[in-house]
Amino acid sequence: MKVVRTEGALRDALTPHRRADHSIGFVPTMGALHEGHLSLLRAARLECDVVVVSIFVNPLQFGPREDLAAYPRSEERDLHLAEGAGTDIVFAPTTEEMYPAGTSTMVTAADVALPLEGEARPGHFDGVATVVAKLFNQVQPHKAYFGQKDAQQVAVIQAMVRDLSIPVEVVVCPTVREPDGLAMSSRNAYLSSEERERATVLWRALEAGHAALSEGAAQEVAEKVMEDVVESETGVVLGYARAVDPTTFGPSDGTSPILLVIAARVGSTRLIDNLPVSEA
Ligand code: PAJ
Repeated sequence: MKVVRTEGALRDALTPHRRADHSIGFVPTMGALHEGHLSLLRAARLECDVVVVSIFVNPLQFGPREDLAAYPRSEERDLHLAEGAGTDIVFAPTTEEMYPAGTSTMVTAADVALPLEGEARPGHFDGVATVVAKLFNQVQPHKAYFGQKDAQQVAVIQAMVRDLSIPVEVVVCPTVREPDGLAMSSRNAYLSSEERERATVLWRALEAGHAALSEGAAQEVAEKVMEDVVESETGVVLGYARAVDPTTFGPSDGTSPILLVIAARVGSTRLIDNLPVSEA
């Protein structure tokens, strides 16, 4: 496994593979790797000749009151895990390498970025779209792997790839969960043991919403069911609990598939989760 830190070194590492017409699979991450990230790497390993992972905590996608400085960083461990999952090339640039002085071009994310996470985190998805567009240009992958865990991010990336005609196939992999249902997330590391127990409320709410829909409840009823579950847990503050159309993140019109999405603050840690519902 090669570790490269500059765009030039990345290009050099990829050149022989491009010449040999190898398929390139790419997994963008912010590090602090866990089983969720590793599932993306393993999917890329199965489907592509070369697997590239980026590890870059992207300042553009953090708000002024968010956790950029505190975001967990564990490069040595990440490299070990990435290697174990079959990674060929790790791209771990510095902030100066990614955004040299004078950099100011930004991608404006599609309208799907506006509600929910976009409302809670203004500018977040423009920062995500900008770094992912840049990474796509640096790596030029055939396939790029994203987790369903961040469903609105997936919709933002899919819209960007479509709208800007970026030649990459976006592959979406299922959410990896702890045995008690909590979606794996680098931010789970912030939770105290008491908060960790309470954090399962997101999954419990999604399951209750799903059960309500399966019994024929209206979407608004399912939303109320999810809200009630979250509000019954102490120390947890609801952000939103909605049934949405997974491509627009607006209300589902009842004909398209439904995605249940939820955000809540557990202590001071904001967590998100979602559950696709195949049949209402
Ligand atoms: P990060 O939070 O590190 O996540 C990297 C990728 O791992 C994303 O596609 C995310 O959806 C996926 N992932 C995280 N937890 C997962 C889980 N429990 N199951 C399955 N997949 C999971 O998302 C980002 O970084 C950044 O916004 C990035 C795309 C790298 C741009 O900076």
